[in-house]
Amino acid sequence: MVDLVKKTILVISSANIDLVQKIDRVPYSGETVVENDGTYSYVPGGKGANSAVTFARFGADCVFCCKVGADANGAKLKNLYKAEGIDTRFMIEDSENPTGLASILVEKTGKNRIIVFPGANGNMRAEDLEDAFTCYPDAVYLQFEIADEAVIEACRLAAERGVPVFIDAAPARFDFPLKKLGEVEIFSPNETECRAFTGITPSNEESALKAAIRLRNMVNAKYIVIKMGEKGAFMFDGSEYFVYPAENVVPVDTTAAGDVFTAVMTYSYVQNGNIHSAIRMANVAASISVTRAGASTSIPTLAEVLEYRRAAEEKESAAE
Ligand code: ATP
Ligand code: RIB
Repeated sequence: MVDLVKKTILVISSANIDLVQKIDRVPYSGETVVENDGTYSYVPGGKGANSAVTFARFGADCVFCCKVGADANGAKLKNLYKAEGIDTRFMIEDSENPTGLASILVEKTGKNRIIVFPGANGNMRAEDLEDAFTCYPDAVYLQFEIADEAVIEACRLAAERGVPVFIDAAPARFDFPLKKLGEVEIFSPNETECRAFTGITPSNEESALKAAIRLRNMVNAKYIVIKMGEKGAFMFDGSEYFVYPAENVVPVDTTAAGDVFTAVMTYSYVQNGNIHSAIRMANVAASISVTRAGASTSIPTLAEVLEYRRAAEEKESAAE
């Protein structure tokens, strides 16, 4: 059961505008493809923002520290976050760089290819963060889509204050100095990120375990949780491993599935300390998100996840 005491989650991460193009297939090098049946749209995105919106939609007190440009996109994003109930006091306006932009190609299978122009995200500096800790967070949530020095400083500030750190290891960064993260509660890469850090593709239980053991030697994390797309998730706690199969859904667009997964897992774990129920809830929330288009537009609320589970249980007991 979910505890009703609201926790404060400080997200220190990225904010983007996503240019999403729905396409039949990606062009070959040198080729122009005219997508008569395709669509495009501008959607609020960014790994940090998607996670911040998830926390807010689950009822957490979410404080979002990020950097956007002094431009129309930055202003638009700030208003959207406020409308979601996110605390935007520690959003910073960068006069030198534009708001981050992601170009996202989504194929018919729902699989995506993403190119990120970091803009202001890449200019987040160590000195931008300390003020945000005045919100007395119960947890600090990070990804690798901002400058490395900001991620490392956030970990240092959290450790100084005894605040647990949760890391969604996205996007793939084989060169990130993982040892500088210090103590981490949950470290969660997807398959690509896992391969980038360890050289091992976690395609089944055996390879996922090998990768998780290697990762645990690289990061001082209590739990390694590997997101495995339609296969679900894999968790290693240093002595045992567990597999959590995905929900059976028809994917439309997997953009932000990883952001939703790690945020919901963190939310639930921070609420009640149970890693297993946290991962199961994350699997459900992420599976709902893949049935919807876009990034922040695909994120479910806590009520939707609870309703999904209620309907699934009803169906199961009717089948018995
Ligand atoms: P993103 O597309 O945001 O980069 P990701 O690659 O980081 O996502 P994935 O491993 O693809 O993360 O997916 C995260 C979670 O979403 C999975 O662990 C699973 O719970 C859910 N998920 C993804 N794809 C599917 C699917 N086809 N069916 C059911 N659940 C899915
Ligand atoms: O994880 C999905 C996100 O990655 C998109 O919203 C895009 O902005 C990139 O950051």
